[in-house]
Amino acid sequence: MSDTIDHPTGLDGLAPILTGRGLVKTFGRVVGLNGADIDLFPGEVLAVIGDNGAGKSTLIKCFSGAHVPDSGEMTVDGQQVEFSSTHEARAGGIETVFQTLAVAPALDIASNLYLGREIRKEGILGQLFRTLDKKRMRTQAGQHLQDLGIGTLQDITQAVETLSGGQRQAVAVARAAAFGSKVIILDEPTAALGVRESARVLQLIDDLRNRGMPVILISHNMPQVFELADRIHVQRLGRRAAVITPDSHSMNDAVAIMTGALEVPDDEQTLGPVRVPATEG
Ligand SMILES: Nc1ncnc2c1ncn2[C@@H]1O[C@H](COP(=O)(O)OP(=O)(O)O)[C@@H](O)[C@H]1O
Ligand SMILES: [Mg+2]
Repeated sequence: MSDTIDHPTGLDGLAPILTGRGLVKTFGRVVGLNGADIDLFPGEVLAVIGDNGAGKSTLIKCFSGAHVPDSGEMTVDGQQVEFSSTHEARAGGIETVFQTLAVAPALDIASNLYLGREIRKEGILGQLFRTLDKKRMRTQAGQHLQDLGIGTLQDITQAVETLSGGQRQAVAVARAAAFGSKVIILDEPTAALGVRESARVLQLIDDLRNRGMPVILISHNMPQVFELADRIHVQRLGRRAAVITPDSHSMNDAVAIMTGALEVPDDEQTLGPVRVPATEG
């Protein structure tokens, strides 16, 4: 199958950063994915919506290395990939903030940012005794947060358990943003947050896009999705039912597609990119 998709906006041929084709994932008798496709283009926010159990988390977990699909193909940057662990996916440039937040509450912000990729001291201390270079992690963590415009988390030596839900989420998003070199995936990042905290996380996502980083955003929140997303992937019964945009369809349409009440003909779908990717600098 060709990875370039004809598109009416003149962006024909812009290569997707990530694709999935015919992905199948079963859990015993339960079908998580039933031949799912997905495309993510450079510099876009792709929202993934769908009813509970539609396979949204399962789909992104294939790209996060948390699941290995039973069949189907995945590409990143045009290269076929097979991730057998989250570590491999991260090494491949894909950072995920999972639905169940994986932060370590008792550790401080800097340590959380470097969880799983701690910086060791140089020389014999680091090599032999695996001594952590806390000072360097703190300095760099502070810089990352500053870069992301969340310098209000000033004290990076603060334990994460003392933070609010929104601040914790910001740490998780910051971690993804600091290390994701190709794609950032967020699974329901605002589900547990209040209005103001949600707004902050959404602002972070917008900032990421402005820096040219493509984002996959799983969300139940329709107004949020319609405000932020460039394109909207509707997942239904383990497959991609349609791809629409905030301009091409209404929120009511989106809900109708989710429930199967509305089918979108191929020529009304937006399978290709809709915005010109942000340029560097
Ligand atoms: N680890 C698992 N073991 C068994 N069934 C699972 C597992 N993960 C997901 N499922 C099932 O796969 C289907 C899709 O789940 P999921 O991807 O979590 O949906 P969504 O994120 O869209 O709510 C559901 O029926 C769910 O119960
Ligand atoms: Mg889910």
